[in-house]
Amino acid sequence: MKRQASNRPKTLHALVTGGAGFIGSNLCAEVLARGWRVTAVDNFHLGRPEFIAPLRRNPRFKFIQADLLDLLRVKRLVRGCDVVFHMAANSDISRGARETHLDLSLGTLTTYNVLEAMRLGGIRDIVFASTSAVYGLARVKPTPEDYGPLRPISLYGASKLAAEGFITAFCHNFGLRAWIYRFANIVGHNGTHGALVDFIARLRRNPHRLRILGDGRQAKPYLHVSECVSGMIYGYEHARGEVNCFNLAPRGGATTVKHIARTIVRALGLMGVEFVFTGGEQGWRGDVPQVRLDARKLAGLGWRAALTSDEAVERAAHELAGQL
Ligand SMILES: NC(=O)c1ccc[n+]([C@@H]2O[C@H](COP(=O)([O-])OP(=O)(O)OC[C@H]3O[C@@H](n4cnc5c(N)ncnc54)[C@H](O)[C@@H]3O)[C@@H](O)[C@H]2O)c1
Repeated sequence: MKRQASNRPKTLHALVTGGAGFIGSNLCAEVLARGWRVTAVDNFHLGRPEFIAPLRRNPRFKFIQADLLDLLRVKRLVRGCDVVFHMAANSDISRGARETHLDLSLGTLTTYNVLEAMRLGGIRDIVFASTSAVYGLARVKPTPEDYGPLRPISLYGASKLAAEGFITAFCHNFGLRAWIYRFANIVGHNGTHGALVDFIARLRRNPHRLRILGDGRQAKPYLHVSECVSGMIYGYEHARGEVNCFNLAPRGGATTVKHIARTIVRALGLMGVEFVFTGGEQGWRGDVPQVRLDARKLAGLGWRAALTSDEAVERAAHELAGQL
């Protein structure tokens, strides 16, 4: 595919919120490798010090432990940066359903604080980690970015949709520019949550039997974290609108939960594992059982994932089996 020329200078200073998390730590490593300066912020709510430990050796990397719910701190953090990659949120979706303020606080209010600090500090560019969960039970599949009405069915999806709304309004009113990415399920190195991590943890406890939520036929697109990061950067460097919204998805297809379970069993070198399904189409209340994302918009700009969903799962299964 012919890739378009970048519209950005090479050396940027990025603030990465949630920089000690799964995707944030991979993003920090990638932009450092591209020669950028990076300030990462995290409160270790779900992030891990060991994810940023290797990055600390790089003189262009700085880590600050802070809570993004503290607006005064956020105002100081954004000073001097060219772009904010806002990755922080609550990624523990089931806890978010029990503690109903969690997604509102960590998904929406942190976004408001980041935007307000950017407005006051004169920082223009925000790259935002949104989710396919904003589409809810979409009737059109693969779902394109302009699908509507957007009716999320999880508190997590609701908090991201609200955050997207604040972002577009800040752009319109205060001259900010935004790159909103609606991610597929992201998998790979430093993963801490989701079906792959959950299955590995369960199989380490009991290598004979695996309990699987739902009927195993739930199918979603899985994108490897390295491609998530490169797609985000590519879109940031090439899309020129005021608000640029993209699905970020694998090259093709979707992977069933049952296929993930089989892949993990193979990656762990196990045999004869009994799968026990809890039953029902949904894994849990708020789960969207069938997701397909239309990734043609970003492809039209020149970026497409190399891996299919099954290939991303396969690669991530081996990485995580070695790491967890
Ligand atoms: N992993 C996926 O499959 C996926 C899919 C769609 C969207 N996303 C989005 O991508 C982003 C990154 O997700 P992830 O999977 O890396 O999750 P993660 O939990 O590993 O990363 C989020 C990080 O934010 C930090 N954080 C949370 N609240 C904070 C606060 N108040 N102050 C400072 N730091 C705070 C956490 O400690 C954590 O390190 C999130 O916004 C998530 O909603 C992820």
